[in-house]
Amino acid sequence: MEKALHSRNVLLGVCYYPEHWPETMWEDDFRRMKELGLEYVRMAEFGWALMEPEEGVFDFSLFDRAFALAHRHGLNIIVGTPTATPPAWLTHRYPETLNVLANGISYEHGSRRHYTYNSPKYRELSARIVQRMAEHFADHPGIVGWQLDNEFNCEVYEFYSAADHAAFREWLKAKYGTLDALNEAWGTVFWSQTYTAWEQVHLTRNVPSDSPNPHLKLDEKRFFSDSVISYAQMQADIVRAAAPRHWVTTNGLFGHLDTHQLTNDMLDFISYDSYPMFGRTFPDGGEQPLLDRRYSMTLSTVRSISPNFCIMEQQSGPGGWVNRIEQPSPKPGQLRLWTYQSIAHGADLVVYFRWRTATFGTEMYWHGLHNWDNRPNRRTREVQRIAEELRSAGQAIAGSRYEADVAIVRDYDNEWDGEFDKWHGGYEWTSTLAWYKRLQRRHIPSDMLFMNEQTTLEQLSRYHTLIYPHPTIMREETAKLLEAYVLGGGNLIIGCRSGYKDETGRCRMTPMPGPLAPLCGVTVEDFTREEPDGSSPGFTLSEDAFHTFASFSTNGFAETLAVTSPDAIVLGRYDSSSYMNGEPALVENRSGEGRTIYFGGVFSDALVDQLMDRLELTSPAAGQLELPESIELTVRAHDKPIFEGQESGLRIHFLLNYNGSSETIKLNCAATDLLTGQRFVKGAAELEPYAALALVFDE
Ligand code: GAL
Repeated sequence: MEKALHSRNVLLGVCYYPEHWPETMWEDDFRRMKELGLEYVRMAEFGWALMEPEEGVFDFSLFDRAFALAHRHGLNIIVGTPTATPPAWLTHRYPETLNVLANGISYEHGSRRHYTYNSPKYRELSARIVQRMAEHFADHPGIVGWQLDNEFNCEVYEFYSAADHAAFREWLKAKYGTLDALNEAWGTVFWSQTYTAWEQVHLTRNVPSDSPNPHLKLDEKRFFSDSVISYAQMQADIVRAAAPRHWVTTNGLFGHLDTHQLTNDMLDFISYDSYPMFGRTFPDGGEQPLLDRRYSMTLSTVRSISPNFCIMEQQSGPGGWVNRIEQPSPKPGQLRLWTYQSIAHGADLVVYFRWRTATFGTEMYWHGLHNWDNRPNRRTREVQRIAEELRSAGQAIAGSRYEADVAIVRDYDNEWDGEFDKWHGGYEWTSTLAWYKRLQRRHIPSDMLFMNEQTTLEQLSRYHTLIYPHPTIMREETAKLLEAYVLGGGNLIIGCRSGYKDETGRCRMTPMPGPLAPLCGVTVEDFTREEPDGSSPGFTLSEDAFHTFASFSTNGFAETLAVTSPDAIVLGRYDSSSYMNGEPALVENRSGEGRTIYFGGVFSDALVDQLMDRLELTSPAAGQLELPESIELTVRAHDKPIFEGQESGLRIHFLLNYNGSSETIKLNCAATDLLTGQRFVKGAAELEPYAALALVFDE
C-alpha cells in the first residue's frame, strides 16, 4: 500500500503547547488560529510529566480541556505521544532507561531525547503511557491523527547503554546465527579480535586511536536503525489497535534511521520538519551555495518516502536556542516562499512551528508565529495570506504528484559506511550536491531514489537518467538491476570508489568497480586521493564529444580506467598535471538501448554541466518559460482530471524566487497564477523578491 498523505485540499496548521500558557489564553488562541485560516493543531508531544505525574497515576485533564476547546473552534487535532521527554521520576527511579555515550558516561535528566530505545523498562513505561493515551483519546471527535514520539534520532543517534549492548548481541545472533559467521563477516582474525563467546561482543567502546572494527561500525548503525523501528512499531501497534480511525505518522529525517523502512512498516505517511534557515546558517560550500533552497533537496528525500506528505513543523520565525543557533528573522515573503517550497515538493499539509514563542525554557529564542507580546505581526499576516490563497488553490493542488525524469540514487548502507570511511564518505555529499545544484539551476526537477533490496526495475525505469554517484557497497543483485535499467534504455552515471565493497563492508578482490565493471565497460587500474595541498589530477574532455578545451579537476579522488568493452568510448583523459597523463578518466559504455558513464573522480558543477548537455537533459518547461538560475521550477501534476469539464490532469508549474531582489522571467504562452489569480500574458514578467507562483498555462 502506498504510504502517502491523501488529502483533498492543501491545508495549514500550527503546533501549540497549552501547558506553556495560562488557561485563560487558550480560547483566544484557538479562535485566532481559525481566523488566520489554520485548520490543524498539534499538541501534547512533550506532555508526559503532566499526563503521568507519578508512576502509574494518569491525568489527562489538561489536554482534555485543551482538545475540547480546540475542537469547539473547529480545529483538527494531531496528538503526539510524549516519549521524547521522559519525566524526572522515571529516569531517577530507572536509570537503566538512560542512554549512554560510547565512553560510558550516561546522559541525565534536563533536556530531551536522553533515553534509549532498547531499555526493557523504557519500553514497558512507554507502552503504558501510549496505551493509556490511545484508549483515552480514541473516540475524541476532534482528533484526526497521531505523531509517534518527536523526531526519532534527532540530537542523539548513538546508543551505548548496557541494554543496547545486550540487544545488539541478540540482533547479531538473529543476523549471523553463529559466532563463526560473525567473526568471518567482521574479519576479526585481523589483530586477534576473534570472539569466542557472545558476551565478549559489544557495540563500539573506547578503543585506541578511535579506530573500531569497520564492519562492526556498519552493523552498529543498522542496529541503531532497527532499534528505533522496533520501538516505534510497538507504539504504532498500540495506537492502531486502540484508535483505528486515526492516521499515524512521525516527524523528521535523522541519522542512523532507515525512515523508508520505518514508514513502510507502520506509518500512513511521513512528516518532515522544515527549517530552511539552517541552509543559510550552515551553507553548503562551493561558489553558489543553495542556502535555503537546499531544503528542496531534503524535501525530495521526504518525497521519496511519501509522494504527498505533511510538514509537521514549518519554520515561522527566527531560530535560536537558549544560547546558540542564531538565525536572522525570515524576511518579508520568506515564510510564504518556504511554505510553497514545501508544497511545490509534495506537501499537502503544512503545520507551522509554533503558535507563540515560549517565554521560558530552552527554546525561548526559537520564535514562532507570534512573539512573546502575542500581537498580530507581519509573520501572522503572511500566514493569513497563504491560507487565503490556498482556499482557492488548495483543491487544485492537493494530490498532484511532483514530476521528474532524473533521479539521484542513494542508499543507507553507503551513507552509514561512508560516515566512518573517509575513503568514500565525503564524496557522496560533494557529488550529490554538484548534481542537485546544476539540475536545480537549470530547472530540471529531480527526485531522490533510495536503493534497497525491494527496489524494482519499474521504479528505476521511470527515469531517463539515474545518477548513483559513489555506491561503494554494491550488492550483486543491485548491479543486475542497474544493468537491466540500462539495457532497457536508461542512462546511468557512476563515479569513483564504486562497487569495491560487499554488504559487510569487506573489500572485494575483483577489479573495481566490482560487479559494476561489465556495465561500465571499464576496470580501475590505478588510483590516488587528493594531495595534502588539496590538489587532484586534472583531465580534459574529448573535443568531439564536448567541444571544450577546458581542464577539469577530479575533485578529491582520481582513478585511471582501462576500457574493457568494445562499445565504450573515452570521453575524457588525464592531462599533464599528474603522472596519470593520457589515461582515461571518463568513459561511456553503450549497452542495449542505454548507456553508462563512469567517471574516475568526484563530480564538480563544471563537469556536471557538460554531462547534462551530453545527456540532453532539458527543463520540462523549456518551451513555455525562460527562467533565470535563481528561480526554482517544480512541476506537480494530476494524472487524471480533478474538476468537471477538464480533459486531462492539471499541470502546475511552481516558480520560487529565493532572492531578495526581483527577477525577470519570460513566458512564451499566457498563464494564470493559481495562488493569486493573476494573469500573465506572453512576454516578460517581474517576480518580486521571495515570490512564489503556481502557474497553469493556457491550453
Ligand atoms: C524541532 C523539534 C521541535 C523544536 C524545533 C525548534 O527539531 O521537533 O520540538 O525543538 O525543532 O527548535
